[in-house]
Amino acid sequence: MQCQYVNGVLAVDGVPLEDVAARFGTPCFVYSRAAIEARFRAYDAAFGTRAHRVCYAVKANDNLSIVRVLERLGAGFDIVSGGELERVLATGAAASDVVFSGVGKTAAEIARAVAAGVGCLNVESAAELARIADAAAAANRPAPIAIRVNPDIDAGTHPYISTGLKENKFGVPLDEARRLYREAHASRWLEPRGVACHIGSQLTSIAPVVDAVREVVALAEELDAAGIALEHIDVGGGLGIRYQDEQPPAIGTLVEALLAVVPARYTVVMEPGRSIVGESGVLLTRVEYLKAAAARNFVIVDAAMNDLLRPALYDAWHEVRPCREPAADAVTLDCDVVGPVCESGDFLARGRRLAVVPGDLLAVMSAGAYGFAMASNYNARPRPPEVLIEAEGARLVRAREQVGELMRDELARLRDD
Ligand code: LLP
Repeated sequence: MQCQYVNGVLAVDGVPLEDVAARFGTPCFVYSRAAIEARFRAYDAAFGTRAHRVCYAVKANDNLSIVRVLERLGAGFDIVSGGELERVLATGAAASDVVFSGVGKTAAEIARAVAAGVGCLNVESAAELARIADAAAAANRPAPIAIRVNPDIDAGTHPYISTGLKENKFGVPLDEARRLYREAHASRWLEPRGVACHIGSQLTSIAPVVDAVREVVALAEELDAAGIALEHIDVGGGLGIRYQDEQPPAIGTLVEALLAVVPARYTVVMEPGRSIVGESGVLLTRVEYLKAAAARNFVIVDAAMNDLLRPALYDAWHEVRPCREPAADAVTLDCDVVGPVCESGDFLARGRRLAVVPGDLLAVMSAGAYGFAMASNYNARPRPPEVLIEAEGARLVRAREQVGELMRDELARLRDD
């Protein structure tokens, strides 16, 4: 994303963030269509002539316009709920381009996915496989499946977003996967199409991913020899981005390393989320107060943990930039940037040096992934609007929630009122 100071004013793809704030208010998420497109194209191009499908992980940012941008570019989609399936279908995407992941698919979600004709269900347990077979039989339509293998490999990331260790709830061990493939092969309602793995998110080294993919490829080859021919290897998502000083590999470097261990006769499916939208978005927020407490200076802003949960939940670091470049001699403050929510965990950034006064606009960087998607209404706070910067300028792609909407489906009267 082009996010730089132009004549002292921070602009995304040439649009001053001050103008965005003036039009749509704060807090507000701002995304760059060009950046999202460039990241998707980088994935697509990295595969060259190799058969592949880049399935954007919708959970990272499920705004319909963003899903639509990716659909236009020919993306597939990785989903984890019936809600995400409906969002993807609402943009005109084909169900056959959808991969359905997740450990807790309900019977209703599976039935809907089978009826819609999703491209593949990534299975995470024996019980789920049985449910899928039942749903397929009921719909009289065999279901395409892949087993998600848990390779017991440490991805070296935050424990909350690590998924490939045997103590994690995700996937099944290799031995169980072998058994499930035999079972699926024997069922007339299940069609084994591929094998999947995903060992974690915000990954900054390639080796653990390559090791995991090597294992699932070996399984696919073994199954092939046993007469169960798979078409695709789903290598998951997880490529990290730069929030602070991380050095994640380039998209091309990761894809090249993966292609080197997957035989060319398999289609490679990939499920990136964060690395497509993360650096393509910022959260705009305005400074309400400066508060000098005994031990700390607080910059109190109008965005909070309900808007961007990552700092509170993972102690994640997001860069904070003033939207107007401070004068060289401006007084800087050692400070924590905090929201109005009634929790000490409600911070967006801690231990920063900023030159700010009330009324200033700040941009919280790299907020395009798992930002709005994880936002809540805690403290009865309406969720922020989302704005997409396109060649023609800024456009509202989701309106700010209104308090009235939050109360619409509740009862304010008792039986005896
Ligand atoms: N595929 C599967 C099966 C996944 O579970 C995930 C993410 C992805 C793909 C996409 O991973 P990505 O490319 O975005 O890293 N809320 C956390 C991240 C949770 C990731 C969950 N699974 C955060 O804010 O860091």
